[in-house]
Amino acid sequence: MFLRAVVMAASLAATLAGALPAAADTLRTLAESAGIRIGTAANVDALDTDAAYARLLAREFDLLTAENAMKFSVVQPERGRFDFTQADALVEFAEAHAMQVNGHVLVWHQQLPDWLTQGQFSRDELAAILREHIRTLVTRYRGRVASWDVAAEAVDEDGRLRETFWSRGIGPDYLALAFRWTHEADPQAHLRYNDYGGEGGGVKSDGIYDLVAGLRRKGAPIHGVGLQMHASLKDAPRASEVRINMKRLAALGLQTHISEMDVMLSLPASRADLRAQAALYRDMLQACLAVPQCRSFSTWGASDRYSWIPEFFPGRGAALLFDTDLQPKPAYRGIRKVLGASAASARRH
Ligand code: G3I
Repeated sequence: MFLRAVVMAASLAATLAGALPAAADTLRTLAESAGIRIGTAANVDALDTDAAYARLLAREFDLLTAENAMKFSVVQPERGRFDFTQADALVEFAEAHAMQVNGHVLVWHQQLPDWLTQGQFSRDELAAILREHIRTLVTRYRGRVASWDVAAEAVDEDGRLRETFWSRGIGPDYLALAFRWTHEADPQAHLRYNDYGGEGGGVKSDGIYDLVAGLRRKGAPIHGVGLQMHASLKDAPRASEVRINMKRLAALGLQTHISEMDVMLSLPASRADLRAQAALYRDMLQACLAVPQCRSFSTWGASDRYSWIPEFFPGRGAALLFDTDLQPKPAYRGIRKVLGASAASARRH
């Protein structure tokens, strides 16, 4: 409650001081008129310690994905002991600012606790552990978390099912089971498969398509696909191929989401690279807006101040819409311009 009061008071003060763009100009108000959600991955520690960051998220986005707060190792650090501290903080912040929450991620081969990966479990024991994890977490936020990344990154670069802790321990049906268990825990939630490297065309994209088509055929309650879109200026899918991929997924009855976009640059970022980055963000947003079944566009972090990139890619960074001083970059202005044009067009029709 205290955090909510502080953030709302600070936001009001900043608005009155004229430090904020008029409400009509923010990404979330333009996106709402354009008919999609604009989101980002939230850093829960920063939400608590950095009021300016919290204000920025509340002002510009209407969809939050839990960057780490809902991952297996955070939520169930010891077998049977659940810790919802971070997840509760994220959901409460989102509810205080009329934002939707995308729960991330129920079945993934990373950020698993040692008790799980080093335990000796039979197939049935491991299935029971996963089922109880999903049931406990999803039930807690029933009606409060609108969508879940049920599974992520289960397809390898060659398009085949990735061999992971879960596929080895439970078998290839672990994915269909995870979707079914999630749906049982919250029948209203929108359930997504989320992956990288298959946003446009290619072997991995075909592998993801085949995986989700197979899940649909088996009757698994899968409703959408998250196209992560972790890119660089030299390694990005063609927007035309992303549109084609979104349309073939739509033909399966699936919605799509650009779920984790960032565009890493070599540091220090040049003005030319920042302009090229803006063009890439703009092209991918336009691809999403061109396909009615593309329902949300999210970046993996709001500000370069809290991005995973520099830790994982030394010498790279500046990947997001706002810089380390929380100031808008050309990419932000590009996104806002595209949303504004789409919103204006939507108003005319
Ligand atoms: O919380 C611990 C902290 O207690 C400890 O002191 C510290 C030092 O070891 O580590 C902290 O955990 C880190 C965690 O982020 C929270 O900050 C992990 O080491 C670190 O590996 C983890 O990185 C996350 C990464 O996934 C793990 O692969 C990134 O923040 C997160 O942005 C990134 O997100 C993934 C998506 O979930 C799936 N798609 C790809 C995306 C980028 O890899």
